[in-house]
Amino acid sequence: MHDELGQALTGLKMDLTWLASRLEDGHKPLTTKTDSMSRLIDQTVQSVRRISAGLRPGVLDELGLAAAIEWQAKDFRMHTGIRCQVSLPPGSIELDPERATAAFRIFQELLTNVARHAKATRVDVGVRQDGNTLIVEVQDNGRGILSTKLDSPKSLGLLGMRERVLMFGGKIEIAGDRGKGTHARVSIPLPMH
Ligand SMILES: Nc1ncnc2c1ncn2[C@@H]1O[C@H](COP(=O)(O)OP(=O)(O)OP(=O)(O)O)[C@@H](O)[C@H]1O
Ligand SMILES: [Mg+2]
Repeated sequence: MHDELGQALTGLKMDLTWLASRLEDGHKPLTTKTDSMSRLIDQTVQSVRRISAGLRPGVLDELGLAAAIEWQAKDFRMHTGIRCQVSLPPGSIELDPERATAAFRIFQELLTNVARHAKATRVDVGVRQDGNTLIVEVQDNGRGILSTKLDSPKSLGLLGMRERVLMFGGKIEIAGDRGKGTHARVSIPLPMH
């Protein structure tokens, strides 16, 4: 599967290079665009490699969960134009790599869903520790997820997120309010020490 993805990305990159080489020198905005597209393709190739190797996203290792979420939100704002406010806990969250990865991947999937389905103009993200539980919340002001989608076996993205937290004894609660938005709360119990 990632072979096919890699192949497709390589094809895209070649086409883009072809296109860029044919742009007139005077078309600065166009070349700026093809440059950023090219960079995006490179980054995507990197993440495909990471995902297929089962590796954690690099930012997580480098920055920790809170900063990685901030970084992802910024990227989301840039690509969608949707306002995205992040509220982080004052201190740092002590987190093992497995839980950090799960929380981050779920967060990415939730944002992807907002971008693809919500028709939202703003998203509020909250990360906090409540007692011995890590909580990540994502609230959008879009059309609101339909309850039929919530328990549909076809909602593979939602199922995947639930599976990810299950191994930690965690849960995901999602609720849609018609025309007002969708609220998702991810709870992951932290290990005792
Ligand atoms: N934030 C949201 N606002 C409105 N509808 C949503 C939202 N998130 C999900 N949905 C609805 O729930 C459905 C199921 O979501 P799910 O993530 O499982 O699947 P998907 O995003 O369609 O496909 P994928 O398997 O690629 O994730 C979506 O198709 C969409 O109709
Ligand atoms: Mg999805």
